[in-house]
Amino acid sequence: MNAAVSPVSQQKQYQQQFQQALNTPELFWAEQAKQLPWYKAPNSILQQLTSGHYQWFGDAVLNIAYMALDYHIEQGRGEQTALIFDSPVTNTKQQFSYNQLQHQVACFAGVLQQQGVSKGDRVVIYMPMIPEAAIAMLAVARLGAIHSVVFGGFSAQELAVRIDDAKPKLVVSASCGIEVSRIIAYKPLLDKALQLSKHQPTNCIIYQREQLIAPMQPPRDIDWQHAMQHALPAPCTPVKATDPLYILYTSGTTGKPKGVVRDNGGYAVALNYSMRHVYNCQIGDVFWAASDVGWVVGHSYIVYGPLIAGCTTVMYEGKPVMTPDAGAFWRVCAEYKVNTLFAAPTAFRAIRKEDPEASLQQYDLSALRYIFMAGERLDPATLHWACEKLHKPVIDHWWQTETGWPIAANPIGIAHFAVKPGSSSLPIPGYNVQILSDQGRRLRPNEQGFIALKLPLPPGCLTTIWQDEQRFHDSYLSTFAGYYDSGDGGYIDEDGYLFVMGRTDDVINVAGHRLSTGEMEQIVANHPAIAECCVIGIHDAIKGQQPLAMVLLKNGQQIDDTILQAELVAMVREEIGAVASFKQVIVVPRLPKTRSGKILRKLLRGITNGEPLSIPSTIDDPDSVPEIAAILNQKGLVMSSPQ
Ligand code: COA
Ligand code: AMP
Repeated sequence: MNAAVSPVSQQKQYQQQFQQALNTPELFWAEQAKQLPWYKAPNSILQQLTSGHYQWFGDAVLNIAYMALDYHIEQGRGEQTALIFDSPVTNTKQQFSYNQLQHQVACFAGVLQQQGVSKGDRVVIYMPMIPEAAIAMLAVARLGAIHSVVFGGFSAQELAVRIDDAKPKLVVSASCGIEVSRIIAYKPLLDKALQLSKHQPTNCIIYQREQLIAPMQPPRDIDWQHAMQHALPAPCTPVKATDPLYILYTSGTTGKPKGVVRDNGGYAVALNYSMRHVYNCQIGDVFWAASDVGWVVGHSYIVYGPLIAGCTTVMYEGKPVMTPDAGAFWRVCAEYKVNTLFAAPTAFRAIRKEDPEASLQQYDLSALRYIFMAGERLDPATLHWACEKLHKPVIDHWWQTETGWPIAANPIGIAHFAVKPGSSSLPIPGYNVQILSDQGRRLRPNEQGFIALKLPLPPGCLTTIWQDEQRFHDSYLSTFAGYYDSGDGGYIDEDGYLFVMGRTDDVINVAGHRLSTGEMEQIVANHPAIAECCVIGIHDAIKGQQPLAMVLLKNGQQIDDTILQAELVAMVREEIGAVASFKQVIVVPRLPKTRSGKILRKLLRGITNGEPLSIPSTIDDPDSVPEIAAILNQKGLVMSSPQ
């Protein structure tokens, strides 16, 4: 559609790799592992443990920060740019060579070590998109410790929950973040989180930004810049391939986030493989993932992936629009000769809305080879617009916090297949993607069902939920025996193309951010006037989805709708954070339920999506359906036709 399709010989190479990874995964991944500089290379490739779980590279030893930095210096790439920082919100541009970044990381590791951080300790990182966030992550990894980065848009409450779960020895934060022109004071949020959490870290290291100097609480709080003045570089600590590198919390269906645990060795192998075979990147290429270090994309493709692959990574502290305009992405691509851009469809929809003709695209984008999209389904309209305005291959690819790297894509590092709008193309070698019925039966091409991944998962995917093996099993492995349940639904067509159509659970995707409606419901239900509530994701032209709360008032309660909405919005903002984009509440007389009292969320989602009304036989009160449909219609909350 938008790029030359590779010759048949290359397409055959994909088939060969795919079959090899499927039939002889040990051979396939042993070969991939050879590409990396281990301290002790793996002899054991894949092992099933007595628990039934699988582990990759069980006897190998490495340090991922060494692979990402020191190794490249040893190979003579010390002067190559490792990291470019571009911050339109502070008018800052900064570049770090591999030598410089390694020095900063080693020194900050020295600071952490001095504060008692060692192998296996947890360090929570709550930072804006500044180089120090990446430096902190790599420094933690250098010591063999475990980082847990918390996205800056989360509230003090969410931070506290993560601190209590991860029990960090130390928290690293900054005085503030900047949202377009608004300064967000991070330090008071951290202070509040520490008042809320039971667990207390020994110390907090705070990077003071000149835009806002945070008041410190000595001796707990340590000034980053001051500590670095006296820092001695720390060496890399060897760790086992199976030791955890990080915990990254993600929304599940309950209020408690899931601490996805990633190992070191499998992750390094998977990232290196994907940088070459999915993204087609070579040493020296410039890779820009326009995401945030607080999300999995930031971990894999701002920090570890590009650096392990010897590329230059770009960190951008800004938005696709407003900083200063909808030409920002093109300016960054041109200025740094970005070869590969990775963004969320939301970002492109925002740009398209501001600048439909892409008149602000007057930059030289000749270096840009590919645009990858993920975080949500790339809707055909956005795909067409991007192809038409940019004349570059635009590639949808599907993955999750849990997998850490793409499950399905157009694997251009192997072969470029024809694009099918709405599809994230083909499974990546290593992933055995199947569509199952609710009974676990394999469905035929074009039949829609649950997307499941046959075990074992390839290297790099989650190994457990932090300190909760049972939840790991219950959330992912118990639905379909022998499979990982992705939580997404969709189908595979007759050519093997995967179409991911949306979540099968109560997780929603707002501006590429994954949020739990269950968590929002818990908060809304705490309002004294509310008897019952239901939160669903409804279509949003820019953000893909936005939350909508339908609430029932307690008998005798009288509260103005506008006041109620404002109070609920404030509660969700306080407890989850601004990132929830929770803005809409409607009061309804009743909610459709089954006879056993379960709210029919799927039916409500169907109504807002403009699907034809189909009333399930299990419904308790059939009249509630046309009634709620009329209310939603009247409020303009029903799409005119399904997407
Ligand atoms: N720290 C503090 N607050 C943050 C934040 C952060 N790191 N990130 C977002 N927020 C706040 C925003 O300021 C906004 O607050 P507001 O409601 O007071 O205005 C709220 O959280 C929602 O943010 P966002 O979803 O980013 O919406 P927006 O209206 O500010 O911007 C877009 C809209 C489309 C420009 C923006 O959502 C975007 O760039 N999306 C792409 C997302 C992306 O890259 N995801 C990648 C995942 S792979
Ligand atoms: P996260 O774990 O935050 O990265 O969110 C993962 C979820 O985002 C997936 O389970 C999907 O629901 C959705 N998602 C990510 N990428 C895509 C894509 N390319 N197509 C469809 N859905 C996607």
